Amino acid sequence: MWGGRFASGPAAIMEEINASIGFDKKLYKEDIKGSSAHAAMLAAQGIISAADYDEIEKGLKTILAEIESGKFVFSRKLEDIHMNIEARLAELIGSAAGRLHTARSRNDQVALDFRLWVREETDKTIQSIRHLIETLLGRADQEVETLMPGFTHLQVAQPITLGHHLMAYVEMFGRDLSRMHDARERMNESPLGAAALAGTSFPTDRFMTAKALGFREPTRNSIDSVSDRDFALEFLSATAICATHLSRLAEEIVIWSTAQFNFIHLPDSFSTGSSIMPQKKNPDAAELVRAKTGRINGSLIALLTIMKGLPLAYSKDMQEDKEQVFDAAQSLELSLAAMAGMIGDLEINRDVMKKAAGSGYSTATDLADWLVRKLGLPFREAHHITGHAVALAEKKKCNLSDLTLEDLKTVYPDITEDVFDVLSVEKSVQSRKSYGGTAPQEVRRQIDYWKKRLAKA
Ligand code: ARG
Repeated sequence: MWGGRFASGPAAIMEEINASIGFDKKLYKEDIKGSSAHAAMLAAQGIISAADYDEIEKGLKTILAEIESGKFVFSRKLEDIHMNIEARLAELIGSAAGRLHTARSRNDQVALDFRLWVREETDKTIQSIRHLIETLLGRADQEVETLMPGFTHLQVAQPITLGHHLMAYVEMFGRDLSRMHDARERMNESPLGAAALAGTSFPTDRFMTAKALGFREPTRNSIDSVSDRDFALEFLSATAICATHLSRLAEEIVIWSTAQFNFIHLPDSFSTGSSIMPQKKNPDAAELVRAKTGRINGSLIALLTIMKGLPLAYSKDMQEDKEQVFDAAQSLELSLAAMAGMIGDLEINRDVMKKAAGSGYSTATDLADWLVRKLGLPFREAHHITGHAVALAEKKKCNLSDLTLEDLKTVYPDITEDVFDVLSVEKSVQSRKSYGGTAPQEVRRQIDYWKKRLAKA
């Protein structure tokens, strides 16, 4: 490959550590697309002849067809996808193939190919996140009035609605969506034409290739162009944050489907049985979504660590970028699809959720708020009095709303009958009309907001 400079070939182990064809063959389409745009520009600028360009273009088309039909023979001796394609081009069209690499290096070539791949994957991820959000919106719409306990420290805190809870995830995935859009916008610059690192002496037109490949503009600094992997890091960061959200939702599905919670029935389509215990239905899909997060976070840390301390410009270390991103992208795609499937098919045990909503003295804050609103007490004092009421209910083994007016008057004599208006879970939820709160009308507003926002983007 390297012509006169080398007297002997590489050691077998060198070939093994050096070759990337095993995984970068995934970039064949991007590589051919980039070469095609580069050749067209070279011809337009008079750097190669029109005849050579025609040959190159024809050869590249043949190679694309060979790869897609499984006929192409990849060789590890040729290291990577770039050399494999170029070598085949030489076999097909002869000496004109040698002109394709004018004013280009594998350094800008790989930066381009990988960027194109990550850009497309970002677009796919954007679609998958949208699909999950739409699924969540559909469920939230149905559960705007479904009562459930809201938790802090996984202890019952205050009654909320399931619709409200699901909308919290819509907010998270909405931010993931916007992070993906941001990352896409920043990565949308073409590194092609930076050559090895310093640019080229040929009269190239980088604006032409940038445009042909759908980039906003060419990158501005040739050294940065070949040494930057921020686009992959940003994709991985946004992927890791999204996976973290998926993992939290997966965890709730695992908890909620236990016999102890019994808030939901897992769909058969996303669970498995046990080989020994016939009664079991396990939340495997949710568990695997939770676990993929570890793997995705690992990819982010791996690439950050690969990049740290690399001197400018290109170093072979950067070849290790691809497998991390390929793996994380596939894991996220699978997780998003599995989660959308689970959310779409979940069966909700509304009665169980409602009963749980009233447990754990969940309307205690409502009592304290009532004391402030109706009797003008400072909140801290109301908090203290309510604590006594909870202790009394605990002693009588009943809910706050089951205490009699006489009971409540022993705690604070000025309490009146209408306190019972706020002690039920329904009333508690309806009263939380503050912007972003759990009252059904507020949750409907949140759902509306997201439906409009998705329709716009
Ligand atoms: N296979 C290499 C990679 O993935 C392509 C670039 C090689 N460049 C070089 N100067 N050896 O990074």
